[in-house]
Amino acid sequence: MAEKVPSGHEFVATLVAEMQRIFAGLGEQGALEAESQGRVEVPTLLELAMRSEIEAAELAGFWMPSTPELDVKQVFALQCADEMKHYRLIAERLATLGRVVPADPMAGGYSPLYDYLKTLRTTVERVAAAPFAREAIAEVRNAQFIALCERVGDRETTTLYGDVIQPEEIHHHRAGRELLEKYCVDAESQRLALAATLATLAIADELSTLAEKRLGVHPIPAS
Ligand SMILES: [Fe+2]
Ligand SMILES: [Fe+2]
Repeated sequence: MAEKVPSGHEFVATLVAEMQRIFAGLGEQGALEAESQGRVEVPTLLELAMRSEIEAAELAGFWMPSTPELDVKQVFALQCADEMKHYRLIAERLATLGRVVPADPMAGGYSPLYDYLKTLRTTVERVAAAPFAREAIAEVRNAQFIALCERVGDRETTTLYGDVIQPEEIHHHRAGRELLEKYCVDAESQRLALAATLATLAIADELSTLAEKRLGVHPIPAS
């Protein structure tokens, strides 16, 4: 007899639990160390964040015309605008800190995660990988970054992230979660969303020091 397909809520709850298990393996600033290859300092991490924001904005905009579902299109549109705003705020903060803000922050190339995300063709894969998984990683990374800013006494960057950027990344993740709950209601969409989530966790720079991230979730029952 065919196994019962989990509901969208049940499926996404499994994904969230698995992501939290993986994130629990990060040390106090593990995401920052992985992302910066050990250069855990505020300006360096701001420079890296600036590039991540542009990548997130470009992807959300890139997907809009080929995503037919209007509620998903709306989430991508909001995300696109928010991420470009984050880019601008971070660039302004870097300038205040005396850093030269590069005219083309992407001159060094795009990340492997960006290249992977651009290949995704279905709505559930895109939502699982970007607003859902990528923004969950951003939430964990930003929490570590805010704690770092507090430790070094950088109150302005703490406020920028705590009051503006982090609440919006959390909103992006929650919007992605709600869309997955709505659209991942059959075995095939759940299979695609699971694969895209795991691939995102496997590729993300912030998690690159976690060996166990590749183990994956318990298999979702097939129909
Ligand atoms: Fe952002
Ligand atoms: Fe975001």
